[in-house]
Amino acid sequence: MAELEQGRIVKVAGPLVVAEGLRHSRMYDLVRVGDQGLMGEIIEMRADRASIQVYEETEGLGPGDVVVSTGAPLSVELGPGMMGAVYDGVQRPLDALREQAGAFLTRGVNAPGLDREARWTFRATVDAGQRVEGGDVIGIVQENEVIALRIMVPPGLGGRITEIASGTYTVTDPVGTLVDDDGGEHPLLLMQTWPVRIPRPYRRKLSLAEPLVTGTRVIDTFFPLLMGGAACIPGPFGAGKTVTQHQIAKWSNAEVVVFIGCGERGNEMTDVLMEFPELTDPYSGQPLMRRTVLVANTSNMPVAAREASVYTGITMAEFFRDMGYNVVLQADSTSRWAEAMREISGRLEEMPGEEGFPAYLGTRLAAFYERAGKVATLGAPLDEKPEADERQGSVSVVGSVSPPGGDLSEPVVQNTLRVVKVFWALEDRLAYERHFPAINWLVSYSLYLDKITPYWRETVSEEYRQRRDTCMEILQRESELAEISRLVGVEALSPEEQIIMETAKSIREDFLQQNAFRDDDQFTSLATQDRLLRLILLFHEKAIQAHADGAPLKEIFSAPVRERIARAKYSTEDQADVFSQIESDIETQLVADGGEAGEI
Ligand SMILES: Nc1ncnc2c1ncn2[C@@H]1O[C@H](COP(=O)(O)OP(=O)(O)OP(=O)(O)O)[C@@H](O)[C@H]1O
Ligand SMILES: [Mg+2]
Repeated sequence: MAELEQGRIVKVAGPLVVAEGLRHSRMYDLVRVGDQGLMGEIIEMRADRASIQVYEETEGLGPGDVVVSTGAPLSVELGPGMMGAVYDGVQRPLDALREQAGAFLTRGVNAPGLDREARWTFRATVDAGQRVEGGDVIGIVQENEVIALRIMVPPGLGGRITEIASGTYTVTDPVGTLVDDDGGEHPLLLMQTWPVRIPRPYRRKLSLAEPLVTGTRVIDTFFPLLMGGAACIPGPFGAGKTVTQHQIAKWSNAEVVVFIGCGERGNEMTDVLMEFPELTDPYSGQPLMRRTVLVANTSNMPVAAREASVYTGITMAEFFRDMGYNVVLQADSTSRWAEAMREISGRLEEMPGEEGFPAYLGTRLAAFYERAGKVATLGAPLDEKPEADERQGSVSVVGSVSPPGGDLSEPVVQNTLRVVKVFWALEDRLAYERHFPAINWLVSYSLYLDKITPYWRETVSEEYRQRRDTCMEILQRESELAEISRLVGVEALSPEEQIIMETAKSIREDFLQQNAFRDDDQFTSLATQDRLLRLILLFHEKAIQAHADGAPLKEIFSAPVRERIARAKYSTEDQADVFSQIESDIETQLVADGGEAGEI
């Protein structure tokens, strides 16, 4: 047990408190400040002088007030009860805060991350006498209808289980006992703790190969994210960051969602607190919260808690990864996190870097995004997948950025782009034009394209990649031709160029545009995305041919089948015949038949 060392405050500066007399404390130790025991964390140590960021309002604190070090770093509790929970940045459940304090935000409230009263049904999957190591699964708690928690031996622990029993337990009741090689006895609990600033250990990183399928066409087809990868989604005010992130949370093929919301406006609750609990999980029909953990920072919460929240969130995500789940973690918006860093750095009187952000902004962002990944976890393979020789899990990370004025050259965007491989650039011009998702297809990119192609070939089609590239070229050609046509009119373009312009328009309207609020448009499977491209490109090809055979452009462009192409995106997989019907209509309608009646 660490010494509970005491110090005294010498200075208070906003969220930052300086205390002396903490000779034995270390960086990142958690401390209790003042009579109310406010939570704080040491973020700078000089001899016995500690600078402490306090996670609660520091009003009323003053020189001479006592500071007690807990001798342990800021940690989260991991175990049953996290699903559906809404936490603040240091994992205090907002419900419990509200209940205990009456008001929404009071100080000195000590609420554990996991409910101490709740009882969980634990089914042991190992027997007494068995040897286990860190990461091994010892049993299952079915947390709710949707998700089962695999209860694991904490990393670093190993030995022989001397007793274990299925039954009903609270998170602090021992479910069994483990004796390590030195004879030390350790109770086995449903919960474990982990310091948030230290990545949870795994066996090794794996290379990424499968997509994080989102059902959002512009993302999946044009700028795909891999399971275990990281993406940045910058966008000005109201361009669609939150809607895009909610879509990913709802529809992606990750099993667990961790959402970190950093509030923007006044004393308002974040979008997260209001909207997220309303979302329905399309796969289970249950509330999405059944497999979601929310970390919410409203803008009236102290900046230090906001700074901590991304670490709290990603540590939770890693915990589910370690169970063998694919997790998607989203942070909205990371700009608020960076601003918290800037404020605290300013209080520490550190040398400011670009735009007042601390010089370590880039390092911190990189360290955060590098916690994304697909890994071979600690522990034995899962019983459910006996054919696998290791357990695999992943954390995919999507961070939104709200750069002032939508300026993509500002430091948070730039430093994020240095680490992530996918960039979805939201643009207010497109949002004004009601082209949603307002992701600019000429600026955005995914560096995962080549990695994903073999997967596409195997599971979607041989031609999907080629079709995607062809469409991208057509869109690029459109932007060049748009310049010319603005100057001299569309008619000045050659017929081939005019066909390109029409096809590009079709790609934009019939494929890229996707209404997140329309049930039949929210999600498109990869197979259907490919099918749509095939349709659009078939029209393109037949248009060129028909024109070469003498059909006038005007008639080609007004062929009745175009209406059906435009509606094809609302079709589902089991309507495959819809696609073949449209394809055959294209074939019959786009022929130059020497002026015969009927078709062109
Ligand atoms: N895919 C979409 N489909 C339909 N409408 C959309 C879509 N994306 C965004 N919108 C529209 O744009 C509005 C603003 O989107 P959103 O709240 O996601 O923006 P934001 O970038 O998060 O804004 P803020 O900077 O205020 O957080 C939405 O309320 C919605 O009307
Ligand atoms: Mg938003």
